[in-house]
Amino acid sequence: MGKTGHVIIELEEVDSTNLYAERMLRKGVVEEGTVIQAKFQTAGKGQGDNQWESLPGQNLTFSIILHPRFLLPTRQFLLNKVISLGLIDFLSIYIEDVAIKWPNDILAGLKKIGGILIQHRVEGEILESTIVGIGLNVNQTKFDHNLSGAASLFQILHQELKLKEALVLLCNRIEERYSQLRAEETERLEADFCRALLGYQEEKKFLVEGKEISGTICGVDEFGRLLVEHPGNDVKVYAHKEIEYV
Ligand code: BTN
Repeated sequence: MGKTGHVIIELEEVDSTNLYAERMLRKGVVEEGTVIQAKFQTAGKGQGDNQWESLPGQNLTFSIILHPRFLLPTRQFLLNKVISLGLIDFLSIYIEDVAIKWPNDILAGLKKIGGILIQHRVEGEILESTIVGIGLNVNQTKFDHNLSGAASLFQILHQELKLKEALVLLCNRIEERYSQLRAEETERLEADFCRALLGYQEEKKFLVEGKEISGTICGVDEFGRLLVEHPGNDVKVYAHKEIEYV
């Protein structure tokens, strides 16, 4: 069992580090914790049909290969928690106002600084492998107008970070959280995840089926669905895309 980042494959250019990881897994055994990092992705993948845009050599774009065979596939959302918290722990070294926007976005202030794309391969009852793709905006100074909701660490710190050092630190933070999962410290992971969740225990406005309603996020269930308490103590469960923050 290798620690996250014990092997780092550095690529100048690739279509997508997640696709590269898929190809590696198809070819043979890949040790847990292997990281594939690229300076530039020609077809970086985001959530859904989105692309992940990142200027060459300025940010972190990488994938981690895990073999979480100890985890039942039904508990896979715990891996989202592990990775999100690893990112929050890392960013908290530099900045204060960081949050997880359910389910997969990492925010600095109210702007998106990082994104996570997780792909699992389940064989029978076994979570055979997981590719964790992470995009984190580090040194990019400007974003296209279509990415007006994006931010980078540089924009907040006014200082560049060395990408390789940042990657190692981030991998260490992820490894700490992954070890907590291996040790079944799930209560801690869940409590920390809730604490970092945007809008947790605050009354907010949401859009559900095109209608604006108010509610208070009270957590996520074991499948990663959002739990929102609406006026009258009515707790509803929402899957991704069923609810939007206003
Ligand atoms: C999102 O849409 O928020 C998820 C973005 C994930 C981007 C990363 S960059 C490294 C890895 N390779 C990809 O093609 N995508 C992920």
